[in-house]
Amino acid sequence: MTGKRLGVGIVGGGFVGRFHIRSWVGVRGADILGVVSRTRRSADGAAALARQLGVGEAKAYASITEMVADPAIDALWICAPNFTRIPVMEEIARAVQSGKGKLVGVACEKPLGRTAAEAHRVRTLAQDAGLLDGYLENQVFSPAVTRGRDILWSRGAALTGPPYLARAAEEHSGPHEPWFWDGELQGGGVLNDMMCHSVEVARYLLTPPGAPRETLTPVRVAAHTSCLKWRQPRYADQLKAASGGKTDYRKRPSEDFARALVEYRDADGNERIVEATTSWCFVGAGLRLSMEVLGPEYSMAVNTLDAGPKVFFSRQVTGESGEDLVEKQNAEMGLMPVVSDEEAEYGYVAENRHMVQAFLTGRRPAENFDDGVAVTELLMAAYLSAEQGKTIAFPPDGLAAYVPAVARGTWQPRP
Ligand SMILES: NC(=O)c1ccc[n+]([C@@H]2O[C@H](COP(=O)([O-])OP(=O)(O)OC[C@H]3O[C@@H](n4cnc5c(N)ncnc54)[C@H](OP(=O)(O)O)[C@@H]3O)[C@@H](O)[C@H]2O)c1
Repeated sequence: MTGKRLGVGIVGGGFVGRFHIRSWVGVRGADILGVVSRTRRSADGAAALARQLGVGEAKAYASITEMVADPAIDALWICAPNFTRIPVMEEIARAVQSGKGKLVGVACEKPLGRTAAEAHRVRTLAQDAGLLDGYLENQVFSPAVTRGRDILWSRGAALTGPPYLARAAEEHSGPHEPWFWDGELQGGGVLNDMMCHSVEVARYLLTPPGAPRETLTPVRVAAHTSCLKWRQPRYADQLKAASGGKTDYRKRPSEDFARALVEYRDADGNERIVEATTSWCFVGAGLRLSMEVLGPEYSMAVNTLDAGPKVFFSRQVTGESGEDLVEKQNAEMGLMPVVSDEEAEYGYVAENRHMVQAFLTGRRPAENFDDGVAVTELLMAAYLSAEQGKTIAFPPDGLAAYVPAVARGTWQPRP
């Protein structure tokens, strides 16, 4: 595609689709030219946002097939809910393979699938259709992570030895749409929703820059899940009301807390540890991403709520609630942290620049569907460990066919 700009179509005009569109102000060589969504209204809204930001003359399409058929569209970003992955990817593959249109690549939000089987299927569909594939894990593109990792490895690790422990956490007070709370639709609870980020960013921090993913081999996974807040009657009632009666955490909870320890071996057989924890029951200023790396003579720490300016509002400032200071904001009063440029700081800008450059030059992105499959397999092993209450040797037998109890609607926290 030398000399050409990449025409991008977004599938799913909701929360994260709009995050990607906003990030495009920092992306070169590509324009957002289309949006498909479940309803015309959200497709029109997201397309209007792209035009308003000047990141592309986007228009709404009636279907994925129609968007693929437009010669202006070269690549798709899949930003639709988890339960639509397979039908969305099947329609893309069908449209390309039947010659309705041409695409260079497809980039897909996390998770690649709700189970290992789904993630494998998504990768196979993309490969059989001859598409380049990008796995949209924004945290491995976050400037704090990439810059911190470069410095640790080039100074501390080069002189005193590689890091041996990475911790990562993603926490907020709960998702914004009812489908996330439904174990079957989403594929699980907070473990599936957010630990995908934490296990991947921690693995990335422990992997030498430039080395392939296989440099670290997972050997054991131990996890614990619970529902600490949202099945309490008061909060279960809130969820029920917000979902029009569909979500009932008194009867069918999903986990709102999860921790996992993934034990790796490096190329020389040394132990490397990833410690990941996630919750939907953290009440602080808003979304908090934290990471730590420990090596023999050095360490690194990131906390997204500590990085930017802070503002203070007295109790006289009683405006409307919003998310203008930080994603998943919980309050508007007192001393409040501000994440000044969320699209850049969480990694969306660098992620999309990378994906665009890879697609324009015909290269497979560095973060691709192999990574999406690997992350899903680790999460499934974590669910298995939490269900069985024991450490799981990785990969466990039957991983491909395993569906977590929470995704089957049968999970209950241990008494
Ligand atoms: N990287 C991250 O940190 C991050 C953050 C959030 C979400 N995500 C991931 O991104 C995906 C979307 O999440 P979200 O928060 O954006 O959810 P959301 O706010 O519910 O938005 C999903 C959008 O997809 C549309 N949609 C539903 N079914 C569709 C279909 N079959 N084809 C095309 N569009 C369809 C919906 O349309 P209507 O509006 O018309 O109903 C909605 O606009 C999920 O897989 C999620 O895990 C990633």
